[in-house]
Amino acid sequence: MTHHLKVDIPDYRNRLDDMVQGILGKPIDRFEGPLKVAGRATYAAEARPVGLVYGVLVQAAIPHGKVLEVGGVTGVLAVIHDERMLRRAAQGMAKTGPMAGPDTVDYMGQAVALVVAETFEAARDAALNLELRYSVEAAAVNPEAVEPEFPEKKQSSHGDLDQAVKEAAFSIDNVWHTPAHAASAMEPHAAIAEWNGDSVTIRAGMQMLSSNKLQVADALGIKPAQVRLLAPYVGGGFGSKLGVNAETIAAAIAAKQLGRPVLVALTRQQEFDLAHRRSETRQRIRLACDTDGKLTGIGHEAFVSNLPDEAFSEPVTQATPFTYQAAHRQIVHGVARVHRSCAGSVRAPGEAVGVTVFETAMDELAEAVGIDPVELRLRNIPEAEPVTERPFSSHKLAEALREGAERFGWSRRKAPRERLEGEWFVGMGVAAAVRVNMLIESRARVTLKADGKAIVETDMTDIGTGTYTILCQIAAEMLGLAREDVHVELGDTNFPPASGSGGSFGAASSGTSVYLACEEIRSLIATKMGCTEEELTLQDGMARAGNVAQPISQLLDGPLVAEGHVEPGNTEKTTRQATWGSHWAEVAVNRWTGEVRVRRMMGVFACGRVFNEKTARSQCLGGLTFGIGIALTEAMEHDPRDGHIVSRDLAEYHIPCHADVPHMEVHFIEERDAYVGPTQAKGLGELGICGAGAAVLNAIYNACGVRIRDLPATPDKLI
Ligand code: MOS
Repeated sequence: MTHHLKVDIPDYRNRLDDMVQGILGKPIDRFEGPLKVAGRATYAAEARPVGLVYGVLVQAAIPHGKVLEVGGVTGVLAVIHDERMLRRAAQGMAKTGPMAGPDTVDYMGQAVALVVAETFEAARDAALNLELRYSVEAAAVNPEAVEPEFPEKKQSSHGDLDQAVKEAAFSIDNVWHTPAHAASAMEPHAAIAEWNGDSVTIRAGMQMLSSNKLQVADALGIKPAQVRLLAPYVGGGFGSKLGVNAETIAAAIAAKQLGRPVLVALTRQQEFDLAHRRSETRQRIRLACDTDGKLTGIGHEAFVSNLPDEAFSEPVTQATPFTYQAAHRQIVHGVARVHRSCAGSVRAPGEAVGVTVFETAMDELAEAVGIDPVELRLRNIPEAEPVTERPFSSHKLAEALREGAERFGWSRRKAPRERLEGEWFVGMGVAAAVRVNMLIESRARVTLKADGKAIVETDMTDIGTGTYTILCQIAAEMLGLAREDVHVELGDTNFPPASGSGGSFGAASSGTSVYLACEEIRSLIATKMGCTEEELTLQDGMARAGNVAQPISQLLDGPLVAEGHVEPGNTEKTTRQATWGSHWAEVAVNRWTGEVRVRRMMGVFACGRVFNEKTARSQCLGGLTFGIGIALTEAMEHDPRDGHIVSRDLAEYHIPCHADVPHMEVHFIEERDAYVGPTQAKGLGELGICGAGAAVLNAIYNACGVRIRDLPATPDKLI
């Protein structure tokens, strides 16, 4: 039986709060944690099928053109240059869209050939010696030197912003630059492909198996039914595993040709070249307000880049239309087509850099008006989505700002350069957190076995976020079982297709499908108990209705199986759905060296129901850490001559390390949202990133009086 729900009307029942097992929401540890630290959770590159051989990718040494010939090596099993390897599907979101890309080399460092040998060492040696002959075509690699395209759908204008700025009591008009960012997941991309007749099984690091399966089929020219993907454990994705990458297609082509399983794993350097990047951005922000600090005009012009044929462009202004009220508004979105590595979604695409820059602009405006930056934000929160007038499905920005100010000790903040401790200027900064909320179609199967234990099966992934644990908690709560009695199986396309992990939609989408399957099983149990599902209480393996109580296992003469299937519906169109919060930072800036130390950081977030306080908090700690990276350390540099990535390892691309990350606090505001579905949970994964860097940058200004608009704020810019 399939329990299908299209979220067309608000679901005010909020049944999960009536359940009595008491496991949902609890901060329990991730089940797979011990497996991971003990090396027993096998990642994509770690399987060793019989007859495994090793492939090493060879990368283009030109930014644009064609590969005419490869050769010059002997003693290997295969040298493969196959145009199907050049195709890309960076996003993994378009379920049926074809793999993009002409069969040309489009950037320096792109994977163009695969060398396969009996050992990794032999393959690597041959790959280093492989001779490639190219025809070279002209390449533009500098986005600032290219006339951008302005896709019509991404521009909007209401009222007269120019006039509003002219007539404003106060205004600001500045330009910011953010560099390209790398996802840099801990587990580099890897794939092992193995054919059985006309069907291929691929173990790979992937975030969205159900759409990745369609993309693999499309790239190889076979039917989706001939593809099975396995990704039970994924060592982080941060967007880079949303789509299908070159190693996966290359491994499948080679395995077919050789009739043996083939492993292709990326080196850390290749990870930077071959996984997609976040685009660099140039953002001009204009803000106009009256004498009370009420916004009258908002302008946000964003310029990003991508390869000539890629549909994706960093949605920098995604949250700008609905974060603050203002009658006059203008959004501009320009895309420069350049021969740099593919740009795609990286950790909170859009808001990560858009909200961060916008929230530093708000800090500048607060100073121009002479009011507290918290107060400026509070004065400009809209009642409903501006322009469309759609109501917010839930909205807790004001609460997050007020609660945060109280908890952080905001009233102790001083004027810029007023707090000097030894050789350190110390300051505080605030920023709003905002991220769009999405629900994605998702399915899961739940089986309640005759022994009273349950199994959850779905092709959902756990990319280190805690999916195994939260899906177990939802099923255990709904079925009245101990967590040990619920077994969760993920990461196999033989299971029902799920949302996958991305865009902060994974937990709520896949969690709702498990909820629906369990609701169906509850109905089946209720029938056996002779009561309605509403009258049924399930707890500790017992079913109760009125005065009757029975062990669940005694009610069953065989397994009960149900599938849950959720789809977004009308409520997504009739309401503006987003998550909200506030970021706080206290930093010290060395007056002589310009070194910045973040001393403490805090986030207050509202994301609807929290399935597991610990995994949710961990997501936010990661988000705040990425905020430090965006503000202070992370920058992917491209060579201006040929566009190749210069900072292509973790020594050159600086992810904040332990010494950079101070004491952090995360607080959740209790919230339920009836418009997002029966679990009343919204997305959370990326909210902690959106604006976190702005709190750091605003704190830097408050400390030493320097505005940084060219990110990251490295010491050279502060002295
Ligand atoms: Mo995310 S950048 O949608 O994995």
